[in-house]
Amino acid sequence: MSARPHISPAPAGKPGPGAPAPARPKVTLSTLAGKKALGEPVVMVTAYDYPSAQVAEAAGVDVVLVGDSAAMTVLGYPSTVPVSMDEMIMLAGAARRGLSTPLLVGDLPFGSYEASNEVAVASAQRFVKEAGCDAVKLERGGSSVERARAIVEAGIPVMGHVGLTPQSATSLGGYRSQGRTAERALEVVEDAAALETAGCFAIVFEAIPSEVTDLAMPRLEVPVIGIGAGPSADGQVLVFHDLLGIYDGHAARFVKRYARVREDMIAGVRAYADDVRERRYPEPEHGYEMAPDEAARLRSLLHGRAER
Ligand code: KIV
Repeated sequence: MSARPHISPAPAGKPGPGAPAPARPKVTLSTLAGKKALGEPVVMVTAYDYPSAQVAEAAGVDVVLVGDSAAMTVLGYPSTVPVSMDEMIMLAGAARRGLSTPLLVGDLPFGSYEASNEVAVASAQRFVKEAGCDAVKLERGGSSVERARAIVEAGIPVMGHVGLTPQSATSLGGYRSQGRTAERALEVVEDAAALETAGCFAIVFEAIPSEVTDLAMPRLEVPVIGIGAGPSADGQVLVFHDLLGIYDGHAARFVKRYARVREDMIAGVRAYADDVRERRYPEPEHGYEMAPDEAARLRSLLHGRAER
């Protein structure tokens, strides 16, 4: 592996595409509250390792979520349910090492917070102590409201998540949009309000009709980050692998692809495989040279050994 980034020279006075973004102040909870007050959209994206975090850093996003979507996008599980705390901590630690500016949020995986407030606080503390996260996220209203309150009281900021909550997709009838009846929409809005009252600093709204977000917004003081929840939210979040086209699985309707990285990756690896098979790679510039006198000495040393 080459430790040196390959960055093409940029025209004088202009940063190149790989150049680090100018230093920004670290994003804090007050930065997010300030953005809401000013009506400035909050940009959030997932990242699960060192290079994806570095990309998020260089692109200037505000919040990075080490989402339990990692279960599917990077670990290959069929849903978000199987991913463990140990796996999430390892991924979050790698993301931490690639970041200095965005707020880093660790996603509490299924089974790591539901049983009791004590279990929830212990899991949240692992994200902060072992992985260096700034905050954690948990899903649903109901009993999660008490868990959120306990974690906040333990001094760790919490982001809520309502609407489509993939950890409970089975009880929600599958991966489908939520809040399409007035009663279910009311539940979503009430869950969000309860999470805010419990002390959450922001709430993710996933896969709900835009009208529900529109009606919920005036009732909430904390930033609402939407994913398939319409344009009126205070910010938007997308899964890194979805927006860049790295992940081969089904993409939800709210996903907008901003790149087709998977195709580029396959084309790159295929070109390498073709070059190796056709002996076009490596070329002389990819190899190392030995001084001619050293090569001559080696030949005679080997010759001497062969004769013994
Ligand atoms: O796990 C995740 O990526 C998430 C986002 C979709 C909000 O929870």
